Amino acid sequence: MQRIILDVDTGLDDAVALFLAAGLEEIKIEAVIATAGNVGLDKTLENTLNIMETTGLDCPVYAGSAAPLVRVPVEAGDFHGETGLDGPIFATRLRQEVQAQSGIDAMITLVTNNPQEITIVSVGPLTDLARALQREPAVASLAKEFVIMGGSFSSGNVTPEAEFNTYADPEAAKIVFSSGAKIALFSLDCTRTVTLSAERLEGFRAKSGRSNEVFVACMDTYTANYTKRRQGEPQMHDPLCVAYLIDPSKVSGAYHGVDVILEEGPSYGKTIKRDTSKNTFVAESIDIPWFWTLVERALAALP
Ligand code: BDR
Ligand code: CA
Repeated sequence: MQRIILDVDTGLDDAVALFLAAGLEEIKIEAVIATAGNVGLDKTLENTLNIMETTGLDCPVYAGSAAPLVRVPVEAGDFHGETGLDGPIFATRLRQEVQAQSGIDAMITLVTNNPQEITIVSVGPLTDLARALQREPAVASLAKEFVIMGGSFSSGNVTPEAEFNTYADPEAAKIVFSSGAKIALFSLDCTRTVTLSAERLEGFRAKSGRSNEVFVACMDTYTANYTKRRQGEPQMHDPLCVAYLIDPSKVSGAYHGVDVILEEGPSYGKTIKRDTSKNTFVAESIDIPWFWTLVERALAALP
């Protein structure tokens, strides 16, 4: 059983990560933390609560950071829509509500009370994890692993060189990558290879269940936004981090040290390999048919 904290900026592909984590019996979600990223915190929190309510899982949702550590906020509404989760319609929530404790405090408490037990999966800007490390550096050694979606070692998706999550809070990313923690990193170089075809989406549309319906509504919007931007099929960035936890042997990659460029200029927010330490497993490819079997299994298990 993999016990995880899932830090999200929900987000259309974040929603898929949530469905995957909620629907796979091998995973126990201890906490979900919403951070500002794709859209502002109010919206990512609302989206996260709605998805968690859809899954029927009784799992605490916390508010994380409302803004990056240093830089001015940037958002990614072009891909996710104005709400951050354009597409599905949600009824009034009956169960899910935000916890009073801050997400950063919850992260520190969970990790310190359960040494080597909790994996932190972060699929938005790394602000919450960086704040937790600033406050309690032992989080780096007490967490089992950090599994992160972010960065690119080729071209970016928000600037020519930088990927959105690291660009949205590069100073936080630097703190996390230099923390000494065991890290698995899913950069664009891997996540861009996993896309949702129109044919596969039709396959999901033919299935039943409320979670499946919300997934399809999200993916319709995601597909339309990629098409509008002439970016091909929509890319399944965030859920790959959850898939990795189920079977790391389905992912190939290599160990490196990772750094983030903080100097102002065209490379701001870009990730680079700096092999002075090699604490980060940089994913290069994943078994794509296997990944889709996981999505099918998760959605079939959910209401
Ligand atoms: C990342 O940016 C966000 O828009 C996605 O949710 C994903 O986490 C991809 O660069
Ligand atoms: Ca995300």
